[in-house]
Amino acid sequence: MQEMMERVNRIWRHPEYQSCLEKIRVCEKERIFCRHTPEHFLDVARITCLLAYEEDLPADRETVYAAALLHDIGRHLQYQQGIPHEQASARIAEGILQDCGFTAEKSEEILSLILSHRTRSDRKDLKGLFYRADKLSRNCFACPARERCDWPEEKKNRNIIC
Ligand SMILES: [Fe+2]
Ligand SMILES: [Fe+2]
Repeated sequence: MQEMMERVNRIWRHPEYQSCLEKIRVCEKERIFCRHTPEHFLDVARITCLLAYEEDLPADRETVYAAALLHDIGRHLQYQQGIPHEQASARIAEGILQDCGFTAEKSEEILSLILSHRTRSDRKDLKGLFYRADKLSRNCFACPARERCDWPEEKKNRNIIC
């Protein structure tokens, strides 16, 4: 577990990761809708693990935490260049994962979670859980901009749910 989380922490400390985080922070300074912050990333990781536990599905923690930390890391490129951020994030993540010592097999699994995180899925597998966790992490009920948000009504978390 220690070594696993060491690789995840290497992602956090990676200079390119930190540089992208800063670019996202600047792009989202005036944003009234959901931001893409470390809090969001860790919420996605923890909710995915909770859902997996509840649904008795296998979820490798390292894969989940790495994918959660990286899934929106190319968000600034969507704001600046119109590149869909799941693609931009996967592109950035590939090099970071390699630098942080992830095996090719594990990187592939993480990249596929990143690439599919915006594709609606109710499937009972890790991709489905990850998609749902990303949505569940948003506290729409407490958001002053919820009426202007372009999320379809059925996606919004209008109440606290467990
Ligand atoms: Fe996203
Ligand atoms: Fe997200």
